[in-house]
Amino acid sequence: MSSITSLKGVILVADDNESVREPLTELLRLNCYRVIAVENGEEAFKQACSQDVDLVLLDVMMPGPTGFSVCRAIKARPETRFLPVVLITGLACAEDRIRGIEAGADDFLHKPVKKEELLARVRSLVRLKRYTDELENAETVLCTLARSIEAKDPYTEGHCDRLSRSAVSLAEKIGLSREECNDLRRSGIVHDIGKVAVPDFVLLKPGPLDVNERRIMEEHTIIGERICAPLRSFRNVLPIIRWHHEKRDGSGYPDHLKGDEIPLTARILQTVDIYDSLTTDRPYRKALSREKTMEIMWEETRRGWWDADLVAALDGLLTDSQLALSAASA
Ligand SMILES: [Fe+2]
Repeated sequence: MSSITSLKGVILVADDNESVREPLTELLRLNCYRVIAVENGEEAFKQACSQDVDLVLLDVMMPGPTGFSVCRAIKARPETRFLPVVLITGLACAEDRIRGIEAGADDFLHKPVKKEELLARVRSLVRLKRYTDELENAETVLCTLARSIEAKDPYTEGHCDRLSRSAVSLAEKIGLSREECNDLRRSGIVHDIGKVAVPDFVLLKPGPLDVNERRIMEEHTIIGERICAPLRSFRNVLPIIRWHHEKRDGSGYPDHLKGDEIPLTARILQTVDIYDSLTTDRPYRKALSREKTMEIMWEETRRGWWDADLVAALDGLLTDSQLALSAASA
């Protein structure tokens, strides 16, 4: 029997055929895996969503949802999209394989399942899941740190989540890829993480900053980039963190980039960042209306600071959502 200390992982086995399910379960248990065994696709999906599972072994043909649709549903949920799924098929036909790949399956096993092959696949995919978990944990730590900085200042509460959502909406509106939208979603949360190094007397100062305080504040872009740099999955987020305070005429910071030298994703984040800052209360002024904010943003765009196409796209996005809102309330 396996003990808790030697437990190698939790495997969800879904097969309607007892003569397949039982030997698989037994083999995995003997090799120190905890097994959750189920008989149909519906139960498999339910367990995958509610239990802390490391790997799913799915029969393709089952009563109710097939292995393909369960696999697709698992991969479609943000919470389970990195959960490895192995499809077990009785038919070694190419079509099944293609359908499985399209459904997002990580690997395949053919019946009758060979013992050594099964254990080797399970070992490597559980290891992969551990790496993914570590990565997710690191991301969670960064996001928690970013939120704790935000929480210091009651005037910026909710700013990160709003920014994350509006940056993705703007990116989607101008047709950016799913990956770029994902980079923007993350950067909305962590873009100001470097403020962890800014002392409170500067960070929370209600009035304008003097030259020295401004210099300290401006370092949050470089420090933020340094904090997130070790995380490989954040490599496309780093330029957004570093350059979200640049201006098109080169008067921004920290590198005085000009025009399109500022990456598009960084320009998107700064566009929604400025809008959000102007439309929320500050210690020194009340929140501005949408109309007044757009007026200021257009004025600053003419001055050479912001990307005119993005300001126009944001304006369009706000009009769309207002129309949608008024249509919903009509
Ligand atoms: Fe910032």
